[in-house]
Amino acid sequence: MRALVRETRLDPANFVLPLFICPGEGVRRPIGSMPPQCQLSIDSAVEECREIKSLGIGGIILFGLPETKDELASGAYDDQGIVQRAIRAIRREAPGLLVMTDVCNCEYTSHGHCGLVVDGDVDNDATLEWLAKSAVSHARAGADVVAPSDMMDGRVAAIRKALDGAGYAKIPILSYAAKFASVFYGPFREAADSAPQFGDRRSYQMDPANAREAMREIALDLEEGADMIMVKPALAYLDLIREARDRFDVPISAYQVSGEYSMIMAAAANGWIDLERAMLETLTSIRRAGADFILTYFAKPAARLLA
Ligand code: PBG
Repeated sequence: MRALVRETRLDPANFVLPLFICPGEGVRRPIGSMPPQCQLSIDSAVEECREIKSLGIGGIILFGLPETKDELASGAYDDQGIVQRAIRAIRREAPGLLVMTDVCNCEYTSHGHCGLVVDGDVDNDATLEWLAKSAVSHARAGADVVAPSDMMDGRVAAIRKALDGAGYAKIPILSYAAKFASVFYGPFREAADSAPQFGDRRSYQMDPANAREAMREIALDLEEGADMIMVKPALAYLDLIREARDRFDVPISAYQVSGEYSMIMAAAANGWIDLERAMLETLTSIRRAGADFILTYFAKPAARLLA
């Protein structure tokens, strides 16, 4: 009877798995703080994508670790960049899998910040041009959805204009609209090699204390043309997922980020918590709060449990 009257269900089709793409061939380099996640070379990612597709998972989101980094984040908007090459290979070898891309610069800048640094701070408006170029190059490579995560103001409008101008009017934008300056991104910065070399991201990411501002950020991104929005992280911000769900009639996603994943994995590895139940309970709570889909490193094991 519990199954009969259950209000919230999980479906692998609502999961998106983040993948970290690195140079080389046959590479599966374990990410220490996020077992058993790995940095994958393009050929390994292709293999992974076949499995992801067979599990019925809704899609992937790609992050890139370029060969070289520089002050101008050149690798982010290079048509031969690591993510652009990965998109083409995945489209060719695992057709039908939804491919999203994270649009940001922090993995590509030598200093690890999400944009052009001028006088020790990120220059918002100068960064918009890089973001627009990256989004267009991802679309040109075959991305189905572009997802800007940089938190610059005006980036959704800039990306929309650039995509439309380049003939990609049909490519949707998933905006990381309410993204907080969170401690829970710690393990990701090891995974993506993107820790800022000085300072922090508080001049562009949001204060965890601000709920009204989060709603304003979402409203602005929708006005600028975002098709879907995201709240990030998920578990510490369930109230905002709910509030966004009640206010905005668009697809809403939430990102169960690296730190949320690593905490559960670490507790489970110590025998302090039941891994399977913890993953399903947290994912269920995110869906119950109102998220249509969830970016989660648990996508594969959760899909297996739900099969
Ligand atoms: C890039 C980006 C980050 C994450 C997603 N995109 C890191 C950050 O903003 O510092 C974090 C994802 C995670 O922790 O799993 N800006």
